[in-house]
Amino acid sequence: MNQLMRQIFLATGLLVAGVALAAFGIDPGLPDTYWDQPQATQGKAPHDWSALESNLRPEACAQCHSEQFDVWKNSLHAHAYSPGMVGQFPAMGAQEGNNCLACHAPLAEQQYSDDADMNQSLGLKLTHPEGFNHQADIDSKALPLRHTGVSCAVCHVRGWQRFGPPPKKTGATGHQDTPAHGGFTATRTFEQSQFCASCHQFPQSMAINRKPLENTLTEWKQSEFSKKGVTCQKCHMPDRRHEFRGIHDPDMVRKGLTFKLATRKNTAVFTMTSSWIGHAFPTYVTPKIVILASAMDADGKELRHWQWEIVREVGYDDGWKEMRDTRLMPGESRDYIAGPLPEKTSLVRYQVTVIPDYFYKGVYQSLLADKMTETARIHITHAMDRADKDDYVLLEKTMPFSGLHEHAAH
Ligand code: HEC
Ligand code: HEC
Ligand code: HEC
Ligand code: HEC
Ligand code: HEC
Repeated sequence: MNQLMRQIFLATGLLVAGVALAAFGIDPGLPDTYWDQPQATQGKAPHDWSALESNLRPEACAQCHSEQFDVWKNSLHAHAYSPGMVGQFPAMGAQEGNNCLACHAPLAEQQYSDDADMNQSLGLKLTHPEGFNHQADIDSKALPLRHTGVSCAVCHVRGWQRFGPPPKKTGATGHQDTPAHGGFTATRTFEQSQFCASCHQFPQSMAINRKPLENTLTEWKQSEFSKKGVTCQKCHMPDRRHEFRGIHDPDMVRKGLTFKLATRKNTAVFTMTSSWIGHAFPTYVTPKIVILASAMDADGKELRHWQWEIVREVGYDDGWKEMRDTRLMPGESRDYIAGPLPEKTSLVRYQVTVIPDYFYKGVYQSLLADKMTETARIHITHAMDRADKDDYVLLEKTMPFSGLHEHAAH
């Protein structure tokens, strides 16, 4: 802890008594305009603030909030100003690009002013793929704020005011008088699933087969997790850590599922249960999960195989249509049955592969097949490489099988 922080913490300690009195105050919630699009600008920072307090960049927040920064910087929120998105902008122009930034970099200070501004930003992104300095060096070359994606200020700062959850120690709501950045407003809204909705839930009016393309909050509301008070934050920000791990993280996905492999008569039965996922698995139309079962003989030679896919597939054919939806809802179990197994089967293997960016890969492929600017092509090629590297084997399970040998011996 440096000298400045020590002073701040001492001062905060003295204030705790006062804050505790306010603990039973009324929760102010967030201003109604908090998630408006387009956003209002922050305006001018109060004149008596230090340069550090008047800096919206995540590296600036990191000087005093390194714990949050060090975790956030590895999340996809930190990388939301992505090559796969910006590579589509030259064909769209700045105005339409700003519609995408509404979720990927939504502050007024992150919007494009015009096409020239956009083109300059796309050029900078080629030479500086990372939007911020990972060591939190605030003197490093400052790229435009939009390059920091869904960064600290997107969720925490409006009109220079900081908003955050009630402090763990006091649980107090309302204005908290702390020495840095004029204190902050504490509200339980930060602890509620609704907080994530503006970017992770589409309106019902945009539904395809009654389900919007992003339906995460609704899926959660219909699950047992909402009844038990297990919010998005409880799973994606455990103990308030800014992890935001999802389908791209094998350990997170393994944690959400339970697997069982057994035999039933002359079949193998692989059961997958969504045991700790607060929405559909997967929640979007973009990932695909492939389950492959193989029956093998004693020499390991494959005799037969079976394949299933877990995916919500939509397509455009004179309006949007849903082709299939084989996703697992929260708590749901499903059997994937391989059978009848061939006579010489002595081993059965199940392999589960996750393709997190399945849908986007298709988009990138069709874009690359068309005419596009050189800048766009480089960005989309980066995105394609990144998406390919994201595929992983979630699980491989092998089971000896003897049932049919006895039968064959007769
Ligand atoms: C000069 C140090 C300093 C800087 C720079 C700074 N903060 Fe803070 N911040 C504090 C202190 C001190 C507190 C009150 C103690 C605490 O809860 O950490 C605080 C509190 C907060 C809270 C409330 C925490 C809670 O318990 O709800 C949020 C949110 C917050 N800051 C966000 C930010 C963001 C976002 C930035 C960058 C745009 C930033 N801060 C920059 C020192 C700083
Ligand atoms: C300002 C918009 C915004 C808000 C608010 C927001 N997110 Fe996100 N989130 C995004 C975007 C955009 C991405 C995709 C980033 C990328 O890969 O380009 C994302 C990605 C994620 C991912 C990773 C998904 C994956 O594919 O692995 C998780 C998990 C996540 N968000 C959870 C949350 C939770 C939980 C909250 C609420 C506490 C939240 N988000 C609030 C915009 C937002
Ligand atoms: C309502 C919020 C929202 C809007 C608006 C939005 N996105 Fe996203 N986007 C997300 C979320 C959430 C994810 C992560 C989940 C997923 O993979 O679908 C994401 C993921 C992506 C990805 C894959 C991950 C990455 O960053 O490479 C691309 C590409 C993308 N969006 C492009 C766009 C483009 C282009 C637009 C505008 C036409 C757009 N998005 C508008 C919320 C949004
Ligand atoms: C996608 C939105 C989002 C982003 C981006 C984000 N936060 Fe948070 N932050 C939250 C939420 C939600 C909580 C409360 C979580 C809870 O109560 O479970 C929180 C809590 C906090 C707290 C209080 C922590 C505590 O232990 O009491 C601080 C401080 C904070 N954030 C700072 C930051 C900083 C600094 C960054 C950037 C490095 C950042 N946040 C980025 C949503 C976000
Ligand atoms: C009980 C724990 C739990 C809760 C509650 C939960 N999630 Fe998840 N979430 C997961 C797990 C595990 C994964 C990885 C598996 C998957 O992708 O479905 C995940 C994946 C995601 C992803 C990655 C994209 C995808 O296609 O799956 C996003 C985005 C996300 N969650 C957002 C949210 C939001 C927003 C909420 C609240 C409305 C929420 N989650 C509630 C556990 C949870």
